[in-house]
Amino acid sequence: MESALTARDRVGVQDFVLLENYNSEVAFIDNLRRRFRENLIYTYIGSVLVSVNPYKDLEIYSKAQMERYRGVSFYEISPHIYALSDNTYRAMRTERKDQCILISGESGAGKTEASKKILLYYTVTCPTGDHMAALGERLLQSNPVLEAFGNAKTLRNDNSSRFGKYMDVQFDFKGVPVGGHILNYLLEKSRVVHQNHGERNFHIFYQLLEGGDDDLLKSLELERNPQNYNYLVKGNCPRISSINDKNSWKTVMNALLVIGFVEEENLMNIIGGILHLGNTQFGEGEEGETYVTNEDQILTLEKLFGVNSSALTEAVTHKKLTAKGEEMISPLNFEQTLSARDALAKSVYRRTFNWLVEKINQSLAQKDEIHHSRKDFSVIGVLDIYGFEVLQHNSFEQFCINYCNEKLQQLFIELTLQYEQEEYETEGIAWETVQYFDNKIICELIEEKHKGIISIMNEECLRPGETCDASFLEKMEDSIGGHPHFVTHKLANGKTRRVMSREEFRLLHYAGEVSYNVNGETILKQNEGLWHKFAGASKSHCFRRKEVNDQKRSETASTQFKNSLMKLMEILMSKEPSYVRCIKPNDSKQPGKFDEVLVRHQVKYLGLMENLRVRRAGFAYRRRFEAFLQRYKPLCPETWPNWNGCLSDGVSTLVEHLGYTPEEYKLGRSKIFIRFPKTLFTTEDALEAKKPEIALILQKSWRGYTERSKYQLIVIQSAWRGMKGRRRAKRRRQAADLIRRLIKGFIYRHEEYGPENDYYLHHIRYSFLKNVRQNLPKNVLDKSWPTPPALLAEASDQLQRLNMQNMVNKYCNRVQPEWKKQMMQKVVASEIFKDQKDSYPLTVGRLFLDTRLVQRNAFPCASQYGVPVVKYDRRGFKPHTRQLLLTNTFAVIVDRNKIKQRIDYAALRGISVSSLSDGMFVLHMPTSDNKQKGDAVLHSFHVIEVVTKISMMACKINYVNVCPGSIRFSVARGKEGIIDFVRGSELKVAKGKRGHLLVVSVFEPNSRKSLAILVR
Ligand SMILES: Nc1ncnc2c1ncn2[C@@H]1O[C@H](COP(=O)(O)OP(=O)(O)O)[C@@H](O)[C@H]1O
Ligand SMILES: [Mg+2]
Repeated sequence: MESALTARDRVGVQDFVLLENYNSEVAFIDNLRRRFRENLIYTYIGSVLVSVNPYKDLEIYSKAQMERYRGVSFYEISPHIYALSDNTYRAMRTERKDQCILISGESGAGKTEASKKILLYYTVTCPTGDHMAALGERLLQSNPVLEAFGNAKTLRNDNSSRFGKYMDVQFDFKGVPVGGHILNYLLEKSRVVHQNHGERNFHIFYQLLEGGDDDLLKSLELERNPQNYNYLVKGNCPRISSINDKNSWKTVMNALLVIGFVEEENLMNIIGGILHLGNTQFGEGEEGETYVTNEDQILTLEKLFGVNSSALTEAVTHKKLTAKGEEMISPLNFEQTLSARDALAKSVYRRTFNWLVEKINQSLAQKDEIHHSRKDFSVIGVLDIYGFEVLQHNSFEQFCINYCNEKLQQLFIELTLQYEQEEYETEGIAWETVQYFDNKIICELIEEKHKGIISIMNEECLRPGETCDASFLEKMEDSIGGHPHFVTHKLANGKTRRVMSREEFRLLHYAGEVSYNVNGETILKQNEGLWHKFAGASKSHCFRRKEVNDQKRSETASTQFKNSLMKLMEILMSKEPSYVRCIKPNDSKQPGKFDEVLVRHQVKYLGLMENLRVRRAGFAYRRRFEAFLQRYKPLCPETWPNWNGCLSDGVSTLVEHLGYTPEEYKLGRSKIFIRFPKTLFTTEDALEAKKPEIALILQKSWRGYTERSKYQLIVIQSAWRGMKGRRRAKRRRQAADLIRRLIKGFIYRHEEYGPENDYYLHHIRYSFLKNVRQNLPKNVLDKSWPTPPALLAEASDQLQRLNMQNMVNKYCNRVQPEWKKQMMQKVVASEIFKDQKDSYPLTVGRLFLDTRLVQRNAFPCASQYGVPVVKYDRRGFKPHTRQLLLTNTFAVIVDRNKIKQRIDYAALRGISVSSLSDGMFVLHMPTSDNKQKGDAVLHSFHVIEVVTKISMMACKINYVNVCPGSIRFSVARGKEGIIDFVRGSELKVAKGKRGHLLVVSVFEPNSRKSLAILVR
């Protein structure tokens, strides 16, 4: 992928290790400058990233750029902070080892920017978990807040970090960021009360005055003009063009919200309070005591700090002394009061800053309990610490800063050498030591127990009674006077002595000589007591931290700092380090300007040349076998296109073919080490030369491959098409055949069954039978039936008959005995009366009953049927109401309980009814029988039912006569009577002409009237 580098990326060497003349500082700086000119601000020394501040926005930090660097190996692409970030991340994931990225360089060299780029890279490119989105935002937003409170404009940097910051980002096993934690180091709190000319206080003061709304300022009793505040005027530079305080204010307020600050926390009260504290005026009393002249100011402070005004006044005008084990409060003079006031302001600010970091840490802390309980996450720590600093007047704070840089340099030396050495060891390569300056001696000078500068400083601070800077200096001269890196005015030679004051000591740091002023070092001590008093009295959240109640003798600031540094070193040592070495190209913050002297100085003290030498002492270049083989295999016929044997053999074969001499390279266990860059360059050139050839081969084989693929595609396509076509043709043929057979069959349909028409006839038969099956009659009354084709007429009839028979059988089987009886009677009635008697059709739908009598068993004999009748006298045709009862063998006419006449069925001669719709019927008896009273002339409304039943019971169905016109009947002793039947308009039974009985029926078929009569 090195081929991905553009010509521009290839300016100079992108890794100093490849510099031919690696001992030459000139060549080194020339390479830096050539790349800087092309805006190539990043260059490696092996795995160390050197970065030169461009002082202008480069288009190299976009999301697309991040994607370019994701998962790509270090050397395959142009150097970048993202490459380092990505490599660190991958090392953490694959090796499951905590990592740290140490960013160093002097103020304004771009450390903070680098750390922000790293953080941004992780928040954008890492996989996201459930709460990652919010966490990423909080991680990013912690920066503007910390910068507002911890950064300031200095001469070197408009946004100089005035505190050291170590930030851990915690990742779970899937590589998802799950939490973060910040450690802060030694805030430069002297800035709160004093700024050098051209410098400013911490940004937040100006942001508040510029951006805070009127209501807020009013409640804090502040005015917009920074010139009104003593703590903001010292540098005489309240506004500068590169800083927009108003916008920053908005950003900070928003960031505070994201992090989860709430208004009650009154952060701004403290910032406002500090400004007011700076404006507190003091007067001197007659006895030298000090008092506050503007009491209003104290009342405002009481409100803003939430502290009792008298406690506050006492805190700044008195001091605590311990003499002979007793604590005493004694007044301070005017000068001392001003110092105490400033010390208080610094203390308040420092603690507020610490509290702020604590709040941010709470917000970044992992919310997930699982991660708390088990250490199943890895971290990447990013250290952005203040760079080595030499000012005109260097105080205690510069001492701490530079001490910190000494320590980091130590760590850098130890770890890089150690790593290098370890690598040779693990790879089994002989290693020769390289000379380099080890700054351990300076670190010891500062921190050694009992003898070191910090120890002496502590002793002096903790000594009871008045402290004295002069005695501190003397003590140092006594103890460490002979040390090659320590000089005082007294110890110095003539030349140095001329530039040193008597209140200074000079340290020869690895990065240069610095003179420190001892003035005021020890004032730190006494203010702690007053601080406790102040904080104890305050209601503000920010001061209520654990340390407030910590009444035990507080450690001196230097010890605290030393201890925190030790802890930091421990943290860093436990991790796999990566380095970013930042270089500042000029002092005027100008883009494109490369100040060679300045750069040379930095290259020197950052130890970059040594770093390079160490790296080169052994071998300039190393790469894992597989990577080396993969890249250069086209250069050897045995390894091209693929090497199938063991990797080291492949590499051996390859380098032998390339003609490497034994001193040029060594094979380790997993890596090849190449001693001279030239060897590598020759190999690279060979590869470049070979590329067109490879490209041609690749092109050819690619074309062959694509053509082959295309051809295969065509073969498959045509086979498929052929198959589909054949199937379609077959279907078409079958269809045509069928149609032909049907047409032929139709033509020959009337012929004998044979090959011409068999298919057609079979089809017709099949269709008809299917049709019949689907349309069978639903019941016996349903006479529908599909029309059969001629040739199936007979079969159809048979089928219809069979079907009907079947339905009838089924129907009959379902009929109940009573219903059967009814049916039989109805059948008999039909046989007798159908088409004979007018009233018959109307009775068909009405059921025959077992009796028509209301009192069923009125008559004792076993009657089967009873019906009320009217009996007409044979002579006078007088009507009498009677009942007719039928038994199994005879019928009787009864008048209530009295039998009037018995008619034996055996003797019954016949039964006559009229053909009209009347109810008359005559039971003919034998005339010869004297016992009989002659024929019975009766009338019933149920004549059809009665007659049917009698005829059936007497088994004399054929004896029923339906007589049109008239009925003759016998009266006793051979005489005859006649009943005439006519149709008329009114029902009437009366004696008519010639002694006949005349019966008038009103029946008109279907008339309502006749029906009404019938059913009465
Ligand atoms: N990579 C970069 N690209 C563009 N400008 C940069 C870059 N690094 C630093 N700068 C500029 O330099 C200034 C100082 O950088 P900063 O990181 O604050 O320095 P340091 O933290 O080392 O003191 C920044 O405010 C910015 O203007
Ligand atoms: Mg910084």
